[in-house]
This record gives sequence, structure tokens and C-alpha cells, in this order.
Amino acid sequence: MMKIQGEKIILRPLQKEDAGSLFKHANDLDIARYTLLPHPYTLKDALDFINNTKKNREKKKAFEFGIELTETEKIIGMISLMNIDGKNKNAEIGYWLGKKYWGKGIMKEAVKLILQFGFKKLKLERIYAKVLHPNIASAKILEKSGFRSEGRLRRATLRRGRWYDDVLLGILKTELRK
Ligand SMILES: CC(C)(COP(=O)(O)OP(=O)(O)OC[C@H]1O[C@@H](n2cnc3c(N)ncnc32)[C@H](O)[C@@H]1OP(=O)(O)O)[C@@H](O)C(=O)NCCC(=O)NCCS
Repeated sequence: MMKIQGEKIILRPLQKEDAGSLFKHANDLDIARYTLLPHPYTLKDALDFINNTKKNREKKKAFEFGIELTETEKIIGMISLMNIDGKNKNAEIGYWLGKKYWGKGIMKEAVKLILQFGFKKLKLERIYAKVLHPNIASAKILEKSGFRSEGRLRRATLRRGRWYDDVLLGILKTELRK
């Protein structure tokens, strides 16, 4: 089984048994606001999502990892490489974390781990993120992880009746920190 070992966290594929943890943390408007997560988020959403992650991994469409807290062995968030473009060796990164765990450097560690996976294992050339403005927390993490701003797509996203600009950030294989 594919596991990426960090210090505070382990990135690993989800299992049916993780549905309760996903539901507990993902059913939060502060997480849904800037992501594709449904709101309200139900236990069925969690189970369907877990099934899809398995299919996506098998087809190499996306690699979606649960973020397991080493201390409790429970899933507290997600981090993924999606829209994998094998021809151009590009992929999009996306993530969220249960609110209780914000501000502890957990996502910074998760981003570092998945970048190593994407560049070293998947041999990607570029990993990019689309951050909805004004999701400052997310843009900050990416900048601190070595991503650079690549521009702003004005009014590119309509979510829950509101328009947002997409801020594009990207990192190249050659920019990965040792
Ligand atoms: C974005 C999110 C994942 C942040 O995770 P986190 O674990 O709290 O972030 P970290 O603690 O690793 O922070 C990393 C850096 O970003 C900075 N940062 C985090 N939140 C911030 C905020 N609200 N404002 C300013 N800076 C912030 C931290 O100061 C830290 O910098 P440092 O290393 O110099 O201390 C979390 O807030 C979340 O799940 N948000 C909702 C979902 C979402 O928006 N996903 C991204 C979609 S693109």
C-alpha cells in the first residue's frame, strides 16, 4: 500500500473505515468555501468520495491521500494531485484540513511530502494550484513551499452564487527544495 511517511503525519489512501473521520472534519462551511467539497457534507458523500479515490488511483487520474495524524492514527484532512496530465507531466494540487488542526504547520508538511511524491515518483515537471481569491491561508502555504504566482484568472469561478478570481500558483521540478 502506498504510504508517505512524515513526522507529524502520514499520507495514505483512504479506506471505508475513514468515512466517519472525513465526515466529521469536512462538514464545515469554512472548508467548503474555497474548495469543491459539498456543503452540507454527509456520510454518503464521504463513502462515495472514498470509492472514487480508489478508481482515480487505479486509472492514474488522481492520487488522493488522506492526511493521518501520527499521534491518533485518524484522518484529519486530504491532499491530492488531480487532473494528472501524463503527456505534459503537469498536475493540480488541492487540499483541506479539519479546522481544529489549522495553524500548526500540518499542511506545510503535507505539501512538502506530496511535492516529493509528484516530482520524484510521478516524474512530473510542474505542479500548480488554483486558489480562489481571497484564500490567503492557502496562497501563503504555497508561497512558503516554493510555488510562484503565475497570474490571475478574473471571475473564473462561480461558487454558491458568488464570483471569484482564480489565482494560479506553480512550482517546477527544478525548483523543489532539497
Ligand atoms: C489552507 C489550510 C489547508 C491551511 O492549513 P494549515 O495547516 O493551517 O497551514 P500551516 O499551519 O501549515 O501554515 C503554513 C504557513 O501558512 C501561513 N498561514 C496559514 N494560515 C494563514 C492565514 N490564515 N493567514 C496568513 N498566513 C497563514 C502560516 O503562517 C504558515 O507559515 P510559517 O510556516 O511561516 O509559519 C486550511 O486553512 C484549510 O483547510 N482551509 C480550508 C480549505 C482550503 O482553503 N483549501 C485550499 C484550497 S486551494
